[in-house]
Amino acid sequence: MTLRTLDTLGSLEGKRVIVRCDLNVPLRDGIITDDGRVRASLPTLNALINAGARVVVCSHLGRPDGAPDPQYSLEPVAQRLSELLGAPVAFARDTVGESAQEAVASLEDGGVVVIENLRFNPGETSKDASERGAFAAELAKLGDVLVSDGFGVVHRKQASVYELAELLPSAAGLLIATELDVLDRLTENPERPYAVVLGGSKVSDKLGVISHLLPRVDRILVGGGMLFTFLKAQGHDVASSLLEEDQLDTVRGYIAEAAERGGARAPDRCRRRGVVRR
Ligand code: 3PG
Repeated sequence: MTLRTLDTLGSLEGKRVIVRCDLNVPLRDGIITDDGRVRASLPTLNALINAGARVVVCSHLGRPDGAPDPQYSLEPVAQRLSELLGAPVAFARDTVGESAQEAVASLEDGGVVVIENLRFNPGETSKDASERGAFAAELAKLGDVLVSDGFGVVHRKQASVYELAELLPSAAGLLIATELDVLDRLTENPERPYAVVLGGSKVSDKLGVISHLLPRVDRILVGGGMLFTFLKAQGHDVASSLLEEDQLDTVRGYIAEAAERGGARAPDRCRRRGVVRR
């Protein structure tokens, strides 16, 4: 399968380019505590700015309930993006309303606007395809082309990721291209010994990855919030730690497969720190 990359879009000078990023950063009291995802979006955004595009950045942040919720506003992200780009970045206070339309209409070539959290609109994550389609149609009015660069969200069937790509000419951004290169290398021809460290809070999001990796790697080290589902599956008491009860059977299957292939161990350090109760 060939990836449609930025160069397939032709000249972008003066074109309105919607960039679907994953700027879902951790925030504490409105302050970004890790700006890694904003930094990861820079290569694509700089390439578009240098090409003279009018850049419309969109993203989700957290899981608001389909309505505006100030704690999930992308405004701090727009400010951080402006600092990192070393250029002004406009911020639209809605997703497809008057503020977004005006901000996009005011863009100059090489200018950037961040529109408000896509999930403030119920159409973004709706289970109903026609609702997602209707929201995507509104979003499509803000751009001439779409660049998909939200690596952490590209697997979601959501309006700005899925339906919007059916409405506008689209290509993958540089972050997606880089991540896929790395993944290809790590899955097709890895150096050995090959250990993979997997983190994050949701086992359910990593099911495909874990099944794919198990026969290929020498070790999988599980960390982050999903660790507790593994510990619980091994019979440990995880108290009130983050747990995905509905994944316990699947995780038991992984542990059994790992044991057959060479061993699955409970982490001793967790036990020493009293995280795991026997
Ligand atoms: C993530 O942080 O995993 C991505 O931004 C996707 O977020 P989501 O799980 O809320 O869709």
